[in-house]
Amino acid sequence: MITPHGSATLNPLYVADPAARAALAKEAESLPALLLNSAAAANAVMLGAGYFNPLPGYMNLADMLSVAEHMRTAAGLFWPVPIVNLTGDTAAIRGQARIALRDPNLPGNPVLAVQQVDAIEEVGEAQLKQVAEKIFRTLDPKHPGVATFMSLGRHLISGPIQVLNFSYFEKDFPDTFRTAMQIRDEINRRGWRTVVAFQTRNPMHRAHEELCKMAKEAVKADGILIHMLLGRLKSGDVPAPVRNAAIRKMVELYFPPNSVMVTGYGFDMLYAGPREAVLHAVFRQNAGCTHLIVGRDHAGVGGYYGPFDAQAIFEKEVPRDALKIKIFGADNTAYSKKLGRVVMKRDAPDHTAEDFIDLSGTRVREMLSRGEALPVEFARPEVAAILMKYYQSEAARAS
Ligand code: ADX
Repeated sequence: MITPHGSATLNPLYVADPAARAALAKEAESLPALLLNSAAAANAVMLGAGYFNPLPGYMNLADMLSVAEHMRTAAGLFWPVPIVNLTGDTAAIRGQARIALRDPNLPGNPVLAVQQVDAIEEVGEAQLKQVAEKIFRTLDPKHPGVATFMSLGRHLISGPIQVLNFSYFEKDFPDTFRTAMQIRDEINRRGWRTVVAFQTRNPMHRAHEELCKMAKEAVKADGILIHMLLGRLKSGDVPAPVRNAAIRKMVELYFPPNSVMVTGYGFDMLYAGPREAVLHAVFRQNAGCTHLIVGRDHAGVGGYYGPFDAQAIFEKEVPRDALKIKIFGADNTAYSKKLGRVVMKRDAPDHTAEDFIDLSGTRVREMLSRGEALPVEFARPEVAAILMKYYQSEAARAS
């Protein structure tokens, strides 16, 4: 099986031994506490679940700057996005060696993890902007990722963490949330050797479905890992439970049995386009996948990135030996009126623009919010029905 990123075996930061976990939870009750923001909490969940292997915890200032600038930590580990605990108020934890990290996303703010505080460093405005510019390629405050990142605070709390639970993800998505360890185990159990991962934050429309099928065929994969984001999104994106139901229905009806694992991970969307695509590759390798599909405007938002920037970064900026996972770069995928099916445009060189109906998550969301039925070229009827029901209930709530 493909080895994890940066180490021979996966070292998740979740404390798996129940006795050790109970002892740590008990200690945490008496430790000074820091209420995390959702971004830092999501990082803890990803570290706990093994997805951010081999990081031992939150990065310090030198690592954050180095990762932003060169996609490497100060010690030289390839890493595309800073994994940080940035906060505004450090009064309660100054001078403390160990702190309890409390979960902002659950009532009562239970302890999510315990952190050893290696350093508390203040980040200058210029440094914060420099990092945001590198990661998001813009400083526009209207970019949802930039807006979140710039609002997290100026104090960087670095150091290793031990994770006690997976926040709301286990309880809210018991059939879907999976750790990298669980996915590796399941891949092993199924005997899959070549596994193609599909990242998504959308209910899957016809282009998504065909991309998975085309990629599986092209790389001769034994199976597909549909791996959906379960954390926070910008407003207007379809909430995870609805997406989950739509995706499961599509897989049940339109994929051969046992060819797909439908799973999800607990992270907030960054909308960082190319840099997020590289992070996606890192954590799919950690989950045991050999390939990742990167299509048009992967992890993008608005018009901030070129349609294939997230593929170009792998060609131009990711050193050849940095990752073991391979990218399946997909061309724009659209419905061909001529052929009566969904194709990648590069596979239909005789077509003109008029021969295609372009498919995108944004267009699907726009049509649904106007109350328009989705044509079969866009979505499977059973998927469209689930989405329509959600949009109608939203419209009823708003009126
Ligand atoms: S993402 O933010 O999670 O990337 P989305 O769920 O829409 O958004 O996309 C999932 C994957 O499908 C990404 O790799 C994206 O590039 C790809 N994709 C979505 N629509 C198309 C399309 N029409 N043509 C090619 N690739 C697409």
